[in-house]
Formats: sequence, C-alpha cells, structure tokens
Amino acid sequence: MTHPASVPALLVFGGGYLGRAAALEAIRRGGRAAATSRDADVRRRLQDEGVEAIDPADPAALGRALAEARAVLITAPPDDLGCPALRSLGAVAGAAWPDWVGYVSSTAVYGDRGGGWVFEDSPLNAPTLEGARRARVERDWLDAAQGMGLTLQIFRLPGFYGPGRSVIDRLRAGTARLVRKPGQVFNRIHVDDIVSGLFASMARPRPGGIYNLTDDEPSSADVVTAWAAERLGLPRPPEVDWTAPEVSEAMRRFYLDSKRVSNARAKAELGWRPRYPSYREGLEAILAAEAG
Ligand SMILES: NC(=O)c1ccc[n+]([C@@H]2O[C@H](COP(=O)([O-])OP(=O)(O)OC[C@H]3O[C@@H](n4cnc5c(N)ncnc54)[C@H](OP(=O)(O)O)[C@@H]3O)[C@@H](O)[C@H]2O)c1
Repeated sequence: MTHPASVPALLVFGGGYLGRAAALEAIRRGGRAAATSRDADVRRRLQDEGVEAIDPADPAALGRALAEARAVLITAPPDDLGCPALRSLGAVAGAAWPDWVGYVSSTAVYGDRGGGWVFEDSPLNAPTLEGARRARVERDWLDAAQGMGLTLQIFRLPGFYGPGRSVIDRLRAGTARLVRKPGQVFNRIHVDDIVSGLFASMARPRPGGIYNLTDDEPSSADVVTAWAAERLGLPRPPEVDWTAPEVSEAMRRFYLDSKRVSNARAKAELGWRPRYPSYREGLEAILAAEAG
C-alpha cells in the first residue's frame, strides 16, 4: 500500500477557507488535490489555482475523485440532517474509501468549562445547537468508520484565523469591538497550523483518533484585539459588553464558552507543534506576508 503521506492525492469535501488551504498544501507537497463546491464561481477559482474542482451534486465526479484519493478531508459543517459529506460520499464510495479520512469538528463540542482545561477524553457537554449537532455528527462518523473499517481521525478546532480572516481585517474595516466578558478565555489557531496538523496525521494515521488542534496560549478576545490595535497603530475599538445588542448572535456564541483546550495529544502522537504558538506570532506572520 502506498502511504497516504507519500502521495498526497487529497480530496476535500468543502473547498472553503480551510479546505482550500489544505488542498493547496497537498499541491505544494508535490501531490494532487480535488475539492468540492456547490458554487460555480468558487469552482472556477479553485481550478485556476490548480485544484480539481468538483460539484458535490455530481455523483460520478465525486465517486471518481474519491476512488483516486489517498486521503479525504471533510470540512463541510453539519446541516439539519447530519453531515452532508457522510451522505454524499457514503452514496458513491462503495468499498473505495481512501487510507485516511479526516473529519473537521469544533471545540464547541466541549461546551463551557468555566475557564478550566479540556482534553479529547473530557465528556462532551455542548448546550448550543451548533455544538450538539457537531457531537452527533462526530458519533455518526465514528460509527460509520467502525462499520466500514475506515481510518477516521477527528480534529476539534477552536476559532481559526489567517490571511484575510483575522482581527487585523476587522480592525482595518472598523468592525472590531473590544467585547468584555470578565474571566472569559479561549484558544484560537492559525490556519497554517491546522493544515500542518492534518498532514502530520496523514503520516501517522490512527483509526478513531481525536485531536485538539489549538494554539498554546488560551487568552481572552479583548486582549487579542487590544494587542492587534496597538501593533497596527490603530485606536482601540469601542468596548461593548458581550450581552449588548450590537454583538451578533454568531459572535455571542463564541463568548458562551470559557475554556482552555489542551493540544498535548496532537503534540505527543503526531509530533506536531504549532508554528504560531500564540496570536502574537500568528498575526505577525500575516503582517509579514502582506509586507512581502
Ligand atoms: N471558522 C472557524 O473559526 C471554525 C472554528 C471551528 C470549526 N470550524 C469548522 O471548520 C470547518 C471549515 O471551516 P471554514 O471556515 O473553512 O468554512 P467555510 O469557508 O465556510 O467552508 C465550508 C465548506 O463546506 C462546504 N459546505 C457547507 N455546507 C455544505 C453542504 N450542505 N453540502 C456540501 N458542501 C457544503 C462549503 O461549500 P460551498 O462552496 O458549496 O458552500 C465550503 O466549501 C467547518 O465545518 C466549520 O464549522 C470553523
């Protein structure tokens, strides 16, 4: 059997922000990548970057890409019925699953821990609809993997950031807020560190393995925003309480949970280290890339 890491022919179900980054990394490593999008414009952009773009509603194309892949990464979020990727890929896969299947989940499955540490074996306790759906879809994938003998890994991610999607953009656009919730703390991760974690796992597959991929420095969001404003020489954005009406529902969901997520298992088992251990290195890297 050819090892998945040596020929990274990757199929990504969900060629969005993270999915595109993973696909481009497979190509950078000398492999091939295919990624799905329901949107023809997104498919065109993926094609222009050398990624084979697939409409997930085209079962023939999806089945062929799956049969050719050494690894498949699922980034599409759950919908009302469960995981769209499990339905679509399950319908076309037959026995042709690749050697590595990665499911991208969220640290929302842990719920609020009052600022305490959580590990992969901690009980799941997600009070939000989003978190509960995630936990259910994780179980669906684990069950399916067990039934079909798949080498499935699950990656639980905190909020992630990277070029074009960070507090830097919100500060420049004037949309950043210093959201105050005393004692609140959480992790984040740079998109490149997620991608390096995924590829580290492809080199060391472990059926049923669950990994938190997070930075090393849980911190409160207002500290990150204040640091970035000072670094950019911009005024501190207005302070708002997390319950204020101008804080969007999606944003408020972030502030429901306070927890410190351990990445020790990924370090120990995958030999992975975040290149950007805190927001400071990660944001500096974004600015350095902009400066060319
Ligand atoms: N962003 C964060 O901070 C964060 C934190 C923790 C976990 N996550 C999770 O990480 C994953 C990747 O996040 P992202 O920011 O890269 O997301 P994204 O840019 O929105 O990309 C999601 C991808 O999933 C596809 N997709 C969504 N619903 C689908 C459906 N019903 N059927 C087929 N394809 C579907 C989208 O394809 P189309 O082009 O067809 O729409 C898109 O390519 C998501 O599951 C997200 O919930 C994100």
